Amino acid sequence: MSSAETRPTAPTVLPERHPHEGDAVEAGLQALYSWNYDSEIDELRTLYANALDRQWIALRDLDWEQEIDREAFSETISIGGFPIQETGFWKDLRPETRWEVSRRSAAFMLSNFLHGEQGALMVAAQLVNAVPHMDGKFYAATQTLDEARHVEVFAAYIQKLDEVHEIAPSLKTLLDSVLSTESWMHKTVGMQVVTEGLALYSFRDMRNATREPLLKQLLTLVARDEARHTGYGIKYLNAVVPSLSDAERAGLEDFAFEAARLLIDSRAGYTMRQSVMDLWKDVGIDPAEAMGRLAQERDTIRAAIARNGGRRGPIRGFVIPTLKSIGLFSDRIRDHFDEMFTANLGAAYAGLDEDPELPEDLEAWVEASG
Ligand SMILES: [Fe+2]
Ligand SMILES: [Fe+2]
Repeated sequence: MSSAETRPTAPTVLPERHPHEGDAVEAGLQALYSWNYDSEIDELRTLYANALDRQWIALRDLDWEQEIDREAFSETISIGGFPIQETGFWKDLRPETRWEVSRRSAAFMLSNFLHGEQGALMVAAQLVNAVPHMDGKFYAATQTLDEARHVEVFAAYIQKLDEVHEIAPSLKTLLDSVLSTESWMHKTVGMQVVTEGLALYSFRDMRNATREPLLKQLLTLVARDEARHTGYGIKYLNAVVPSLSDAERAGLEDFAFEAARLLIDSRAGYTMRQSVMDLWKDVGIDPAEAMGRLAQERDTIRAAIARNGGRRGPIRGFVIPTLKSIGLFSDRIRDHFDEMFTANLGAAYAGLDEDPELPEDLEAWVEASG
């Protein structure tokens, strides 16, 4: 053994008092033992095996030396599934303005992805304790590691681009409610179905839109993981929902609806869209004027959405089809969604029946362009 290996290292001295008290939320849950070590839900055991097989290492598998390709970045940025780069409004902006809007909007979106990943990391760790089946605990353990990696890569990419923005208030409320609910099924529907579904849709959308090499590579790896995370929620709930009482099922539906409402209902508080508009103002774009111009380009926008498989945003394009597939979309909850979309979108709103089915193979869908 060399002397370098045997030399004692000085302990790290941290600048703050410890234990450190930061932003905190009470997270009551029951840590549940399972004495049955056999597989009970085979699909979850398979998913766990896949997760072990598809681990990657952020520092080794991505090229962090490469600079961000500015031109590719501002030509192909995606803002929550809205195909802005195909509009005349966007094309008429000065290249410098396009870069600034792209850079700041993306930093805002990616910052919220980053904070959402931290929430997912903590919830996944909770699920290891809270779920009653060993298959569920095994899988949640792999997800915990996946989410740590996601926090790591989003933080590193944002540092190259801009600064980390504060968490959007609506996302913080959602994460707090998922962390603090005691029910593992509520955690699963709130995180794995609504939040992860929304993330998967948005990552995939940004991945398909961008030609920026590092971002594309990063989102491909992250979205593959997210496809498994959503798959866990779907498979696990599919196995338990049929045995629930009507009241328990209604409680799960309500929790899912409330989670979605926090993120997209303008009546629920300050929405993500409003936060993006604030950034536009900072670079000299008047949001009201921009909205007016974009409203005139409705046909162009519709055509671009149709080319993208007709999926209209993460909730209608993905979360609702997921809820339907696990039997958590009763007429009662459908009316709630209907009312929310009508209140927010008004006359432009069209019925929920046109929404697409859930893709059968989520991992394949992540890398398909349609
Ligand atoms: Fe993640
Ligand atoms: Fe995830």
